[in-house]
Amino acid sequence: MCHSGKQKMPLGEEKNGKCDGSIYVNNPHLDSMTDDILYHFNLGTSTHDLPKMFGDVKFVCVGGSPWRMKSFTEYIAKELGLVDPNAEYPNICAGTDRYAMYKVGPVLSVSHGMGIPSISIMLHELIKLLYHARCTDVTVVRIGTSGGIGLKPGTVVVTKQSVDSLFQPHLEQTILGKPVVRSTELDKELAEELLQCGKELGEFEIIIGNTMCTLDFYEGQARLDGAFCSYSEEDKQNYLAEAYAAGVRNIEMESSVFAAMCKLSNLRAAVVCVTLLDRQKGDQLTSSHEVLNNYQQRPQALVGHYIKKKLNISKKS
Ligand code: URA
Repeated sequence: MCHSGKQKMPLGEEKNGKCDGSIYVNNPHLDSMTDDILYHFNLGTSTHDLPKMFGDVKFVCVGGSPWRMKSFTEYIAKELGLVDPNAEYPNICAGTDRYAMYKVGPVLSVSHGMGIPSISIMLHELIKLLYHARCTDVTVVRIGTSGGIGLKPGTVVVTKQSVDSLFQPHLEQTILGKPVVRSTELDKELAEELLQCGKELGEFEIIIGNTMCTLDFYEGQARLDGAFCSYSEEDKQNYLAEAYAAGVRNIEMESSVFAAMCKLSNLRAAVVCVTLLDRQKGDQLTSSHEVLNNYQQRPQALVGHYIKKKLNISKKS
């Protein structure tokens, strides 16, 4: 269901409602609930005025670390000319340490932790939050880090398709003990717009490529440096070469469920990750803290430029 028209989808149908910019939730049980507690955000429909708090949100940026999402908020406030010298950006989810959330103007910034289960819980509650707040025309971007394949470290990859470890563009989830396969298609036009923004910035290399989403950082990503490893360096290189041939240019751990859930809820979505290393050359992150920090600012600079462009803000304040 979406707020414009309240049409219902039969249970089990995996289509979104395409409700012209409205956020879509496909859960008839929500209708009969007098209160919806967004437990991991420490927010709720009877304790908070969600339309008043969030109704103007047009851009949501999500990323793994709470610290990075606070720093994104400070950055975007400057870029949009919304800095209030007396303002601290309070963590809207201060009552819980699960996720952190910040808001400046029409931009919401939310942390999601590491891996598919963590981001999936956050997204269920974020999608309901946007729905309850009656938001429309929202764009969501995941900004993150990744391991590159055949790319210079520091290259930014805008995801074309999020693929699984067999290089298929879908996510298989188990619901009531049965496999449910969901599409991980992302918004092609948005990916192209972000690529164009990167070219306009001209500060780093940027490409569009497939992103492999794995269930862990070590064996799932063919690393040789985990606590366990049952394959050789040659096996690893063969697997990465196969991934490259399938169009994979980077590897991370959240894009598939992010893409699938945004698609189901009619959210325009993109994934923008910087590569911290070239996985064909190594597994460990050996670059200095300063270099890695610089790399991590690239996705936020790109999204900042995109948001400014959309809001028609041309100069830094
Ligand atoms: N994040 C990942 O998932 N993998 C990497 O190699 C680097 C960051």
